[in-house]
Amino acid sequence: MAAARGLLVTGLNALRVGTCLQGARRGCVPARSYSSAAGSHEDKLKSRQAEMMARGLPKQKPIPGVKHVVVVASGKGGVGKSTTAVNLALGLAASDHVKAVGLLDADVYGPSIPRMMNLKGNPEVSDRNLMIPLVNYGIQCMSMGFLVEETAPVVWRGLMVMSAIERLLRQVDWGELDYLVIDMPPGTGDVQLSISQNIPVSGAVIVSTPQDIALLDARRGAEMFHKVNVPVLGLVQNMSVFRCPKCDHQTHIFGEDGAKQLAATMGLDILGDIPLHINIRETCDLGKPVVVSNPESSEAKAYVAIALEIIKRISK
Ligand SMILES: Nc1ncnc2c1ncn2[C@@H]1O[C@H](COP(=O)(O)OP(=O)(O)OP(=O)(O)O)[C@@H](O)[C@H]1O
Ligand SMILES: [Mg+2]
Repeated sequence: MAAARGLLVTGLNALRVGTCLQGARRGCVPARSYSSAAGSHEDKLKSRQAEMMARGLPKQKPIPGVKHVVVVASGKGGVGKSTTAVNLALGLAASDHVKAVGLLDADVYGPSIPRMMNLKGNPEVSDRNLMIPLVNYGIQCMSMGFLVEETAPVVWRGLMVMSAIERLLRQVDWGELDYLVIDMPPGTGDVQLSISQNIPVSGAVIVSTPQDIALLDARRGAEMFHKVNVPVLGLVQNMSVFRCPKCDHQTHIFGEDGAKQLAATMGLDILGDIPLHINIRETCDLGKPVVVSNPESSEAKAYVAIALEIIKRISK
């Protein structure tokens, strides 16, 4: 076995060429194909156009051994996607019906999973030249943070990021997983599109705070998944309420029920509410997420309830 850092660099160079060639191939569609269709019936033209469009999109290929992929996303940064993804992965693993869960950190520029899952190191590479995930709390994890130094800035152009994502999706030996949870970077850009178009995704979980500005971005996120035919399982309303540990008074710091209203206007469901709680922040910073470090707390139970809801919705 060898360590994975070298593999990433060589692979990135190879993939850069591969990606360019793929683009060139796409560009090679002869113009006459359009013109021959143009003279025929409107329906024929439409189906021809759809065919051409489909040719330009990457083919969706499942990740071997992975039954269900769940992406945790939001258009906005800092709303709690990674915290939610980590605790949901642990919540899924806590279910009696789930044997194995993986967690993929798709945030190449700002990976959070190594710290939140208390993992460090360079993954080994298997005989089949696949990276072997690092494991903690029974969850198999893969992150760009294992492949670059923690303090090293990732100064990459979009194409290199796409190549890295492709490698994180395809060049990891996940074994047999019931669920692979993907922690998405903020936004609705290349990474989100590329993942949705390259692998079959069972569902997207959209995280938002109840605040107007976060909701606008959450809406963009949900609409992007609709456009690429990824089912949106529902919204998680994060930081919904703050309960003062001294006097027990409840404050809706980011507003009240904003995500519920958004869900209603978009015909989506709320999967659950997560309170704004110091335990959630502290345990994640310590690399001991609340679902494993304090499973009897109401915060942990809120995550587990959402995980069960996800299982229910996907098995439908
Ligand atoms: N429910 C919560 N209660 C308390 N703190 C929380 C809660 N959810 C998230 N946090 C804290 O908020 C901060 C941002 O959370 P997190 O990193 O999960 O957001 P993110 O959406 O993944 O951010 P980014 O867009 O940068 O990837 C972290 O410090 C985290 O510990
Ligand atoms: Mg994050």
